[in-house]
Amino acid sequence: MSNQNNVTARRITTHDLAAFKKRGEKWAMLTAYDSMMGGIFDEAGMPVLLVGDSAGNNFLGQENTIPVTVDELIPLARAVVRATSRAMVIADFPFGSYESGADLALETGIRFFKESGVQAVKLEGGARIAPQIKKLVESGIPVMGHLGLTPQSVHALGGFKVQGRGEAGAQIKSDAKALVDAGIFALVLELVPEDLAREISQELSIPVIGIGAGNGCDAQVLVWTDLMGLTPSAPKLAKAYRNLRAEMLAATKEWASDVASGQFPGPDQSFK
Ligand code: KIV
Repeated sequence: MSNQNNVTARRITTHDLAAFKKRGEKWAMLTAYDSMMGGIFDEAGMPVLLVGDSAGNNFLGQENTIPVTVDELIPLARAVVRATSRAMVIADFPFGSYESGADLALETGIRFFKESGVQAVKLEGGARIAPQIKKLVESGIPVMGHLGLTPQSVHALGGFKVQGRGEAGAQIKSDAKALVDAGIFALVLELVPEDLAREISQELSIPVIGIGAGNGCDAQVLVWTDLMGLTPSAPKLAKAYRNLRAEMLAATKEWASDVASGQFPGPDQSFK
């Protein structure tokens, strides 16, 4: 299934995603950081949109996802929620907004729920954040997990490298189980070997969403600017389905040249 998952007149829920897994239906999730793109992806039938902390490097001009704050993400999440009526909208918890304990995590979750209207949140990390996840879930906030390459820990991981090769795979498996026990409704696996991701997807009852994790996952996620060919140097895990960067460069230059030569505005853009 591609965009056919989103066939309801209401928003997709965690129960719909569980049903997709039961029926063996694959689905797609995209990032979105503003109302324009959120509206387009909702119209295209994306069942899930992620207001990722990748907004830091893809939208806010930051070097990576680490500097992004809750205050920066909330207005973006609110814009995506406002522009959509069917996609489930999920907000990333940024670095620093949950690590120190369950109380801080709940505070962050309450802010996202009250101030942006997202329907779920995503946290990076394994067993160490199980207490935070438990508290959120018990408080009525659905949580998506994120294992493998977790970009908020890029400095500790020594760069954007494949995680879980060889014996390290056992740690990811055990973290995945700890997160399921804590109550996550879905799990992102980023940059892990295809066989490991397939095995975890088959073992877990919840949907597993891959990014750079091969073809054996229940769903796939991409950063929208990578999908559309806007990112100047996209990672190997992404495939550009269009070259919007080239299109936008050409349109911008064409318009500026028309202004310079006096061809814009023409009669169609002028008023009597
Ligand atoms: O922030 C993000 O875009 C993400 C996805 C890559 C899963 O976490």
